[in-house]
Formats: sequence, C-alpha cells, structure tokens
Amino acid sequence: MNTKDLLYLLAFVIFFILAGCNKRGEKEKEYIIGFSQCMTDDVWRQAMEIEMNIEASAHENMTILIRDAKENSQLQIKQIKELIDKKVDVLIISPNESDEITPIAEEAYNKGIPTIIVDRKINSESFTSYVGGDSYEIGEMAGRYVSKLLKPGSTILEVWGTKTTSPAQERHNGFITGLDKSKNFNIVSLEGKWRREIAKNNARQITDFSNISLIYAHNDVMALGVRDAILERDSTLLSNIKIIGVDGAFGKDAGLESVADGRIDASFLYPTGGDQVIKVAANIVKGLPVEKRYILNTALIDKPTAETLLMQSNQLINYQRRIEQQRDNMRNLLDEFSILKHSLTVILLLLAVVALFSVYIFYINQKIKKRNRQLRLKNEETEKQKKQLIRLNEEIEKVTEQKERFFMNVSHEMKTPLTLIINLLEKWIKLTPPSSLLTDLLRMKKNSDRLTRVINQLLDFKKIENRKMGFQPTPYDIVTLIDSIKSLFDGLAESKEIHFSFTSDRPSFTLWIDVDKIEKVLMNLLSNAFKFTPNSGSISVNLDTDEEDGKITITVKDTGQGISWERIPNIFDRFYSDEHNNNAGTGIGLHLTKEFIKLHGGEISVESILNEGTTFRVTIPIRNMDNVPNTKMIGENHQLLNEFPDMDSDKAKEMLSKKYNYTILVVEDDLEIAEFLTTELSQNFKTIRANNGTDALEILKKQSQINLVLSDVLMPVMNGFDLCREIKGTPEYSDVPVILLTALSEIDQRIYGIAEGADDYIQKPFQIDYVKLKIIRLLEERRQLELKFMRNMQAGGIPVLEESHTILDSDKQFLHLFIDQLDRFYKDSEISVEKISKNIGVSRVHLYRKVKEITGLSPVDYIRNFRLAKAVQLLDQKRFSISEIAYQTGFSSPAYFSKCFRDLFEMTPTAYLDKK
Ligand code: FRU
Repeated sequence: MNTKDLLYLLAFVIFFILAGCNKRGEKEKEYIIGFSQCMTDDVWRQAMEIEMNIEASAHENMTILIRDAKENSQLQIKQIKELIDKKVDVLIISPNESDEITPIAEEAYNKGIPTIIVDRKINSESFTSYVGGDSYEIGEMAGRYVSKLLKPGSTILEVWGTKTTSPAQERHNGFITGLDKSKNFNIVSLEGKWRREIAKNNARQITDFSNISLIYAHNDVMALGVRDAILERDSTLLSNIKIIGVDGAFGKDAGLESVADGRIDASFLYPTGGDQVIKVAANIVKGLPVEKRYILNTALIDKPTAETLLMQSNQLINYQRRIEQQRDNMRNLLDEFSILKHSLTVILLLLAVVALFSVYIFYINQKIKKRNRQLRLKNEETEKQKKQLIRLNEEIEKVTEQKERFFMNVSHEMKTPLTLIINLLEKWIKLTPPSSLLTDLLRMKKNSDRLTRVINQLLDFKKIENRKMGFQPTPYDIVTLIDSIKSLFDGLAESKEIHFSFTSDRPSFTLWIDVDKIEKVLMNLLSNAFKFTPNSGSISVNLDTDEEDGKITITVKDTGQGISWERIPNIFDRFYSDEHNNNAGTGIGLHLTKEFIKLHGGEISVESILNEGTTFRVTIPIRNMDNVPNTKMIGENHQLLNEFPDMDSDKAKEMLSKKYNYTILVVEDDLEIAEFLTTELSQNFKTIRANNGTDALEILKKQSQINLVLSDVLMPVMNGFDLCREIKGTPEYSDVPVILLTALSEIDQRIYGIAEGADDYIQKPFQIDYVKLKIIRLLEERRQLELKFMRNMQAGGIPVLEESHTILDSDKQFLHLFIDQLDRFYKDSEISVEKISKNIGVSRVHLYRKVKEITGLSPVDYIRNFRLAKAVQLLDQKRFSISEIAYQTGFSSPAYFSKCFRDLFEMTPTAYLDKK
C-alpha cells in the first residue's frame, strides 16, 4: 500500500461516517395542521384546544397552527386564506357562520388541502371529514326531558345561540320535536348569541319571570347569563325556575361545574371533538382512510353525573399537565442526546482519522526502520573501515614516534660530542698560525656549526610538533638583531664575493619578539640565500617598519637559482625538500621558520623567478605586551648564541687569563666531556671531578673548600636537579653556587633548574670560555656582595642587593625581624633557617625568597656572613683566641670558621690578626 492508496482509504472512511451521520440526523417530516377557530375565549373552545393538544402529544411530528377569528367571519375567511397559502398539511375549520365560511372552506378543499370541519357545519359537501355532536338530537333529548319535568301549559324560555349558526337552528328544531305537544307548553325566546353577557343583558328586558317554569339555553354559559339576570332581579324567583343548558364542558363556570354546584339543573353533553379531529388529521397525513362524518355521542348530565365527570375531567387535565411536563423533559433529554450524538459523531470521526494516521505512521515507521537498518549496516561497515584506519594510523604513529624518538635521541647524543669537537677546534684555531691546516680547521668548525644548527632545528621541530614550543616575547631592538645576524654572514659573503647588504628605514626599532626564534628565522633565510646564490651574486636584507599598519616587514632577497612556480606552494611544508637539488637541506628549516613567524602572529611569503632570484618577506605585528604576564623572565637575559656580548673584549680576555683561588667541582658522567671540562677549567681554577650527583655530595661532605658546582643534568644515579636540591637543602654547603649544564633546551626545564636553587644554567653546546666567564662572574659578584654586606654590617646598615635598590617599609620590617633573630641566636651553631622562619612565623620558602630578594643573599649566606661580621668585631677586641671566637659566633669548628673567613676576606683569621 502506498501513500496515495492510504489517502483514498482515508477519504472513503470520512465520507462513509459523514453519510451515516446524515441518515441518522435526518428528522422525520413535520406536519403542519392549520386550525381556523371562530373564537377562543369561551370555556367550551378552550376545552376543545386542551383535548386537541392531548391527542397531538401522541404525534411527535405534528404542529398545530391556531388562528382566532374572534367571532368575525370576514377575519376567519382571511385567516383561512393565509393557511391555504402556507400549504398546511391539513386544514381544520370550526366555522363562525355557515353561509359566510362555506366558499373559503370549499376553496381549500378544492386546492387539495385535506379539510376537516368541526362543530358548526358549512353548506357544502366539499370537505374531507366532519367531526361534531348531533345538535338536533340534543335539542330533541332536551325537549323530551323538559316535557317530563313540566306541567302542561308551563312557560319555557328558550335562549338561542346565534341564529345564523347551524347548532342554534338544530338545537331549536330538535327541541320542538322532542316536546310533548299534548302539554301545550308556552315557548318564549331570547337570542343570547352563545355569550353569557349578551344572554344576561337580553334577559334583563324580561319584565316578569314569575310565570317562567324553565329556561332552555342552547349552551350552558347563556343559561348562566339568564340566571344572573334573574338573580339580579330577585333570587327567590330561582326556586321556581328550572334551568337547563347544553355543552357540559369542563372548566371554570362551564357546564360540568355549574350542574355539579347546582347553579343549573342539567346539561346535555355536546363533545368538543378536539381529540377526534386530531386523530382524523393524523390519519390523513399518514394516508389512512377517513370517514366523511364523525358524529359524537351526547348524554344528559344531571347533578351526580356532573360531579363524576368533573372529577374525571380534572384528573384528565392533571394527566395532561404531567404529559406536558414529561414532554418537556423528553425534549430536553432529546436535545442533550442530540448534542451527545453529535459529539460522538465527531469523536468517531476523529478516531477514524487517528486510526488512519496510525496506519500511515506505522507504514512510514516500517519504511524508516528498513532504511535505518540499511544505514546501520552501512555505518557498521564504515565504522569497521574507520577502526581499521585508526589501527593502521596508530601503528604508523607508533612507528613514526619510535623513529622520531630514535632520531631525537641520536640528536641529543650528537650534541655532546659536537660540543667537544667545536671546543677543541676553537682551541686549535686560536693556536694555529695561518696555514692550510688552519683553513681546514676553519672549514671543520664551519661544518660543525652547521651540524649544530641542523640538530637544533630538529629539536625545535619536535617541540613545534608536540606543541611544546615556548614563546617568550621581550622588547628587543630588531635593527641590532638583524645587524648582528648579518655580521655572522659577512665573512661568507666576502669569500663568495657576494654583494651583501642590510638596509633599514630606522636606526633602531624595538618591538616584542621572541629573540631566539626570530634569530633562527633570520639565520635560516640567510643560510638558504647563501646556499643558493652563486658567487658574485647579491643578497640584501631590508627592514621596513610601518607603525601605522602596526607591523614590520623584513625582506631577504637574493639573486640565486630561484624556485620553480610549482614548488613554491610546498616549500613551507615540513620535510619538503627538493629531490633534484643536491644543495637541499633537511626540509624542516622553512617549515620551522613559518611556525616561528606564526607564533608571533606574523606571516611569511615568497616570490621567486627561476634563475633570477628569490625574495622572502616576513611580517611581524607590532604589539605591546607590557601587560602580558610570564613573558619577560627569560627574554631579558637573552644572550645571542650563548655568548657574552663582550666575550672577545679585553676585559674578558683579562678575566680569562687570571688564576683564581676557587675550587670547582665538575659533575659529569661523560668521561670525555668531564676530561675536557677539567682540563680547560684547570687553567683558571682548581677542579675536582665527580661522576654523578651522589659522588658529588660525598665530595662536598668531605671537602669544605668547594666554591662552585658545575654539573650536567642528565646523569645516572643522581641527576643534576636532584643534586642541586640536595646541596641547597644541606646547611653546611647550601651556600655553594650551582651551575647546571644541560642539553635539554626546553625553557620549562631551565625554570625547573632555577626553582631547584640552581644559580645559573648553561645550554649545550657551550663554548668553554663562556662557561669560564660565567663561573668567574658568579663567584666574583658573590664575593663583592659579601664584602659589601660586611661593610654595611660594620657601618650598622642593612645589607642589600644593590646601592640603588630601594627597600619597601614592609621589607625593612621583615629584615629587622630576621636580624633580630640572628642577634639572639647567631651563637648557637644548631640554629637553622627552619627554626628562624618558624620564630618569625613564615614558611622556609617565604623566608628564603624574601631574604634573597631584599639582600641578594640566601638566608644561609646571610647568617654565615652575620657570624663572620660578629667574629671580626671580636677579633678586633683581641680578647679571645680564634677557636673561642669561632665557637662564640656559632661556627661548628675552628677549621670551618677559618675556611669561611678566608673565602670571604681572602685571608685567614690569623693573617687578619697579624695585619692589625
Ligand atoms: C361555543 C359554543 C358552544 C356551542 C357551540 C355551537 O362557542 O357556543 O357553547 O355548543 O359553540 O357552535
């Protein structure tokens, strides 16, 4: 079944339900019965209406339209016409006057309207049916009844209904017939026109009632009217006069009540025929046959009969009332039922729609399920393939990682021997006079440098790959930087006779850069330019600063072999290397360059024409990073290519040529490097060697004259960081400065080293002169500081890091607290930094940091110098021996006191006393 079929089915069901509803909702045909009544305001006709209604209530679909002619024949004619025009189903006429009404009754009948004549007659046979009592018979019965009652010769007053009406004439004629002729009754007549008031008024005209024995009225109400007139005249007259009427209708002041209460003596039943006439009408509308005449029975109603009939009629009226009530209830119920029926229809309709939609949804659902199943299968297959790919990828990654790790390990391994080679080469280059040997040595040095650069690039590449490349921008003069890099290539340019220039639109320009990285960028671009530019070519570097645009542009332009256009899009890709070019490098130089520029938020682009030359353009945004935290710390100490700017200066030369009274503990597991270091350092210092951290600690414990520890980081048994922590945590030698030598160039490792208390670090590969200068500078600065401290102490001031260093009030307070503690406890050799920090209420780390920050000395150094200062004071007093002074100032032994004294003042305490 498809959607179209379903929609057809839905339409069919809705139609079916609606059709069903219509059939059930269709009402039975309503029949309208028109009733032209000659008058409605007398009790007999009111009784007629009640009887009609009672009968009509048995016929659901019958409505009776009553028109009241008010005893006016012309009005009745008009009203009958209207009913004809209305096309009533049955027309009932109770004529006012027979002659007047006959033509219109005939017209109705002739127009095909079933016409029923009731009560009074018409002068024609053109009607469907006649319903009414027999007035002649009534008159006759009355005549006979009167004849029995009255003596011969009695006078009878006959009260006539309207003389032009058939019942009046018939009741008179019948009466005359019924009278016993032999009794010779006198008949006096009076017209009452069927009305009580008219009869009364006319009776008033009678002058004498005394001779009247009986009053025969054509209806009960007129009988009452004449009685009223007699009562008015003389109520006693009534005892001698019999009064009889016709009708015997129920209702107030009607015949039944009047006979029952004795106002009139008897009445003759003239049935209204209300029920019969409706029955006939019902039969007509049902198409059943009806008779031409229905003559209703009559009877004498005397007092007892009247009482019984009255009771019955009252009951009848009650029943009718109840029936009416039930009918109302029924109608209400039917209305409610009808609402329910309609609601039910709507509900059924909705149910049908819901059912159909359910079928439709079920069908769609099935379809979706089927499609989902297919999709799931497809997904499973894709998933399987994906997993396979992931597995393969993982394998590839694993292998790549292994390869890279191997590669990196090899790189690290290569760095150490390279350091040795370069240092030895430098040494021999200095010692070799100009010769072909020197040329070879220089060439070897140049290639070793190149190798170092490649290794560094590889390590940088790995860092970029692992997203571990740090970014330490610092404000730096870019002109100076480019110039210094340029100078590194000047010699090469000269030897290749390359025209090499650097131009700048400014003499200097400072911006935030990571100097190390920009340096590498420039080195790389220039190395490439020199690699690919033939002799006598030209290479130019240009710096253009554009503060408005917020960027600088460095252009490196060469007249080299150029890059073919199809290779240009790939040259910044990692590992991209020109296979056809023997001169090509590792393929990571330009990749790194681009990454470094990206770290700065800058861009690099290239333009090249084959065999004409290449231009690299680097743009770096000018950004103010004053508020950027954690970016300044290392950059400020940046030293170009691990060199002191003044390494070749006379002062450096002078420093390197001296012998120092310092003992350096060299901690290095690599035999060759250790040997190289000790050999080189021995030229200026005393050296002691240790193979690892543990060895070094052993030596430190025994040897009290170690002035500095120079240690490698990566060593077996105990590494450089652990050694540093041990040294700084042991009071006896925590003052010994530590310099770490590391091939691990990650900045976080450096920070780690410093955090562990290392006083400095030197990155491998190093130049031995640089190492020496670092050692000299560190130890000399320390000595100067301590001397200054002593001078300050003796002058009663607070020893601080620098002259210009201003101390905050809070810091002064802190230092006073600290010195106060020293004053109290310096004599106690057991006193420790922990105890003092506890006494002051700060942590050991906090104390260390604060004291170092304010004074430039560690707490241990500060305490030792404090003790020495006190010792000097005691020595000056010349009251105690040196041993006594040593113990009095808290030194653990006179030997240690002498050592410390000599370290600081470069003379023994004895020599000091002698000098005094
Ligand atoms: C009522 C009435 C009855 C009488 C009948 C004759 O209007 O006067 O009292 O019997 O009409 O048509």
